[in-house]
Amino acid sequence: MTPREQPWQIRPEHPQDAALVEALNEASFGHGRFAKSAYRLREGVDPVAGLGFVAAEEGDLRGSIRFWPVVIGMEKSLLLGPLAVQSDQRGRGIGIALMMRGIEEARAQGHASIILVGDESYYVRVGFAALPPGRICFPGPVDQARILGLSLKPNVLLTLTGEVRRAHIDHPICADGAPVA
Ligand SMILES: CC(C)(COP(=O)(O)OP(=O)(O)OC[C@H]1O[C@@H](n2cnc3c(N)ncnc32)[C@H](O)[C@@H]1OP(=O)(O)O)[C@@H](O)C(=O)NCCC(=O)NCCS
Repeated sequence: MTPREQPWQIRPEHPQDAALVEALNEASFGHGRFAKSAYRLREGVDPVAGLGFVAAEEGDLRGSIRFWPVVIGMEKSLLLGPLAVQSDQRGRGIGIALMMRGIEEARAQGHASIILVGDESYYVRVGFAALPPGRICFPGPVDQARILGLSLKPNVLLTLTGEVRRAHIDHPICADGAPVA
């Protein structure tokens, strides 16, 4: 099926999609997702503006992708995810289409690289490759074989090394969990 024949559309995420996207992520990953190392990098941080996309079909949300701003050592990068497709809509090419749109837009925005934690056998389809073990470290336990990267500018992945941190904090949280007044 060519992209023009697909019955679903990839479009930018709108603010009013947020509740449905959260529900999709909850259904796809469960509440345990908040305990994962990648989520440490999203705490108190908004997703990158203009890089959230959804798949929509006849008014229904079929899938979603977001990216978060991170720093690796001294270099800015993007963390891909969550990427999720409704369980009864998987295998239709929606996940790949969401990633292709996000990657295209990230490149247009001038970002240099994207990293993620996931299955190489899936993400290799859009160009991701495993990073050499030990080159970058997450703020918590991560299976090194699942740390993948994609250069958006020539050979950037070769230069990435060090700790992955949040690029900035949008919503500081006090030690007691309350937002800073
Ligand atoms: C992973 C996910 C986003 C894929 O979405 P999708 O729309 O079904 O993917 P596509 O239709 O674009 O691609 C389907 C192909 O990828 C393969 N694939 C899907 N998930 C895979 C995985 N984790 N590892 C390897 N291959 C995978 C399918 O077997 C299928 O292969 P085929 O084309 O040879 O039949 C979806 O299954 C999902 O939401 N899963 C739950 C959340 C999740 O795990 N997100 C990824 C976090 S790392």
